Amino acid sequence: VEAHFGPKPLAGKHVLVTSGPTHEPIDPVRYIANRSSGAQGTALARALIAAGARVTFVTGPADVAPPSGADVVAVQTAQQMHDAVHAALPADAAVFAAAVADWRVSSASDRKLKKSKDGLPVLEFAENPDILAGVAQMTDTRPALVVGFAAETDDVEAHATAKRARKGCDWIVANDVSPETGIMGGSENAVILITEDGAETWPRMSKQDVATRLAERIGNRLV
Ligand code: CTP
Ligand code: CA
Repeated sequence: VEAHFGPKPLAGKHVLVTSGPTHEPIDPVRYIANRSSGAQGTALARALIAAGARVTFVTGPADVAPPSGADVVAVQTAQQMHDAVHAALPADAAVFAAAVADWRVSSASDRKLKKSKDGLPVLEFAENPDILAGVAQMTDTRPALVVGFAAETDDVEAHATAKRARKGCDWIVANDVSPETGIMGGSENAVILITEDGAETWPRMSKQDVATRLAERIGNRLV
């Protein structure tokens, strides 16, 4: 049991967090995935819980354990994540930290593909729903604050600023995930927070410190 003392700025608030990668099946034994560990989303959920929020944590198959004290909904695919998010609404805030697969294999097989019989496989893809954009553009039960993440390798601020406008969310937490930064899979993060007031560059710090600062900002915004 963890004891938290001090103010609980998010007491009485429901915050939805998506986290981790998604897995998109090719056949019953194979899937397409990405390198998200789930570390930043998990750290954020932990910080939100410490600040008093009730957190629904919709997570793909992550490397790290989900935070204790969250209502955890474990999913595999982007479509399942989409459905779980909508089932969890309404929320006061929704933070989309998951690395959602942009495409699913539309030609997925319910039988294992065999190399001898089937030759080289040719995969066909379909685009997954954009979960963040869907929630950000809701007209009835839109959370008061909708936050997206943007993992980029080039022109981070410009891409993230464009992404915020395109998706209709309030904030974007952008970071540079070029391999040389070590951020993907590492314990530190260096983010640029894009809000309605512009871009703020935060110094490089632990993912837990990024989470604490973000939870604080969310608390200030929801009062
Ligand atoms: N996102 C989502 N559903 C998707 C794709 C992305 O909810 N199908 C969310 C992510 O959780 C993240 C934000 O959208 O908060 C940005 O994801 P990103 O992959 O950077 O954006 P895309 O629009 O997919 O653009 P890109 O072509 O750069 O991948
Ligand atoms: Ca994407």
